[in-house]
Amino acid sequence: MCGIFGYINYLVEKDRKFIVDTLLNGLSRLEYRGYDSAGMAVDGNKKNEVFAFKEVGKVAKLKELIEQSATDMTKTFESHAGISHTRWATHGTPPPSELPPSPNSTDSILIHSSDPLWEFSVVHNGIITNYKELKALLETKGFRFETETDTECIAKLAKYLYDQHPDIEFTVLAKAVIKELEGAFGLLMKSVHYPHEVIAARKGSPLVIGVKTSKKMKVDFVDVEYSEDGVLSAEQASQNVAAKKSATSLLAPPDKSLLHRSQSRAFLSDDGIPQPAEFFLSSDPSAIVEHTKKVLYLEDDDIAHIHEGQLNIHRLTKDDGTSNVRAIQTIELELQEIMKGKFDHFMQKEIFEQPESVVNTMRGRLDVANKRVTLGGLRQYISTIRRCRRIIFIACGTSYHSCMAVRGIFEELTEIPIAVELASDFLDRQAPVFRDDTCVFVSQSGETADSLMALRYCLERGALTVGVVNVVGSSISLLTHCGVHINAGPEIGVASTKAYTSQFVAMVMFALSLSEDRASKQKRREEIMEGLGQISEQFKQILKLNDPIKDLCAKFFKNQKSLLLLGRGAQFPTALEGALKIKEISYLHCEAVMSGELKHGVLALVDENLPIIMILTRDSLFTKSLNAYQQVIARGGRPIVICNHDDPEFSSALTEKIDVPKTVDCLQGLLNVIPLQLISYWLAVGEGLNVDFPRNLAKSVTVE
Ligand code: AGP
Repeated sequence: MCGIFGYINYLVEKDRKFIVDTLLNGLSRLEYRGYDSAGMAVDGNKKNEVFAFKEVGKVAKLKELIEQSATDMTKTFESHAGISHTRWATHGTPPPSELPPSPNSTDSILIHSSDPLWEFSVVHNGIITNYKELKALLETKGFRFETETDTECIAKLAKYLYDQHPDIEFTVLAKAVIKELEGAFGLLMKSVHYPHEVIAARKGSPLVIGVKTSKKMKVDFVDVEYSEDGVLSAEQASQNVAAKKSATSLLAPPDKSLLHRSQSRAFLSDDGIPQPAEFFLSSDPSAIVEHTKKVLYLEDDDIAHIHEGQLNIHRLTKDDGTSNVRAIQTIELELQEIMKGKFDHFMQKEIFEQPESVVNTMRGRLDVANKRVTLGGLRQYISTIRRCRRIIFIACGTSYHSCMAVRGIFEELTEIPIAVELASDFLDRQAPVFRDDTCVFVSQSGETADSLMALRYCLERGALTVGVVNVVGSSISLLTHCGVHINAGPEIGVASTKAYTSQFVAMVMFALSLSEDRASKQKRREEIMEGLGQISEQFKQILKLNDPIKDLCAKFFKNQKSLLLLGRGAQFPTALEGALKIKEISYLHCEAVMSGELKHGVLALVDENLPIIMILTRDSLFTKSLNAYQQVIARGGRPIVICNHDDPEFSSALTEKIDVPKTVDCLQGLLNVIPLQLISYWLAVGEGLNVDFPRNLAKSVTVE
């Protein structure tokens, strides 16, 4: 998942060094999302001049490139608009870093005068799925492309439209361009023709705008302006301009009435004069919070126009029933939440945050004393969900595992048929979905492409959709009918840890809410609520095993080629999650096996050399799990056992074990996963691997 970051200062003088450093810092806050190149575009020294810098590799390399370019960093700008991004090469290869600077290439350092290539600069997240068609159209208009990137199509389409009608307003031009784009994207566009202005558009990829003003804003919202003419094509837009040559815009003469004033009311002084302001645009609020806590989340199909210290929001469509205001919210995020603090890696920090994050998930929702669960985000729909024919959980990766982990308790408490689906496979099968189904989408990022496509598939079929998401304002959280934010706080490490346990807890509370009306389940519900109330302390106890687990990894798993992880019943999802953690950050192959399947083939692998971990905490299946343990022992296997404290079955000094506290059976997986998270972490550290940015992976997979 790439990242975009923009910084606009209006009547707030800043030198180029401040502007460039602000952009670089913003990109560094987004590095965790994964990328393979980075770039930025800032104003040059003369009118119509753009300085564009691009570099393969980390943001630090882009910084180095800029420093080596000997660009004058002392030049000051009273007003300025800069845009930047980190990107995965979804189209085209990353620009080579060694190409000599040249006015027409798209390589490292580009310093332009009026080069048509850079009249419009664009950065974007996501994919423009029709870029080939656009490229072909533009080539027939005489454009020559420098790259294979889809981003270049956007910039050239803007230039094509502008050349048709140089008096076009930026917002009108932007609407006409965006109308032509298909796919999911978030983009920022700046142009030498509209100095100090930026267009920000969101369609399926999050965009947040931070606002910093010298004076308190008059109102904490911005009105949305709809297109009177509805959706305009690029050609229609051009024809409109031809028809309204004297007009100053493609649309009817801009309405400078109440709406515009109200749109800018937040930013203008009482006498309507623009005020000094700074705007920070980002894919993720974590890159904004150190500058301001006042943020506005764009919604899909929003087009924000930042100009003269004002923020206007437009939509391509007529009034489409979406909210006609966008709130300027105060985010609670603190900078240290996105910093590593005393930890060596974000993943380590997030593993150790779990005693707090799990409390935050339950805060204001679980009342153990009064034996009550309240999920505000589901309140209006809970009775409908109780009557649904089926609940289908749909997710990917770790989020899929958390759904598997709670399947049993949902079946037990609600007695509603439960299905758990991998989003990609669900879509491949075009699985049947009906209006009386409830589809639950679980996603840390809320942007995973497979899950998002599955959500749209279910919405089209009339199902009730529920989101269980961590990132507020993300696509899945906005598109679902209702949902629960897991409130785990930003999860930066690619390997999901605290999101897993918070998803798990959030869904257990969901099951508790659904079964509130079932008298026969009350005793069981209360037992589970009691158990949830103790989880945080139990996490703290298990985290004390950090050092022994580090030693265990060095002793048993060094130079191994594979590892078996066995679990049964509700502990099989725990094994699946542990295996994924080990694979994705230590690159050690690890297979999760449902221990009831051992004798159907896997047992052939077992000998005295194969590393094996078995989850053997006490539950209703313990006898069967123990049977599997004995089968492994009988073949010379020497499994490491995750078991409850002082379990007499594993008292032998010869047994290598990890003791965990005992909790309610359906919550035991929350405790058992912690040692596996720590094992995966120490295996990766032991191999000297990049724990937070494992190779080939991104924090959120926003492309199919
Ligand atoms: C988990 O450690 C992985 N990073 C990955 O499997 C992840 O869980 C999966 O891509 C789903 O992401 P989401 O929860 O943001 O939808």
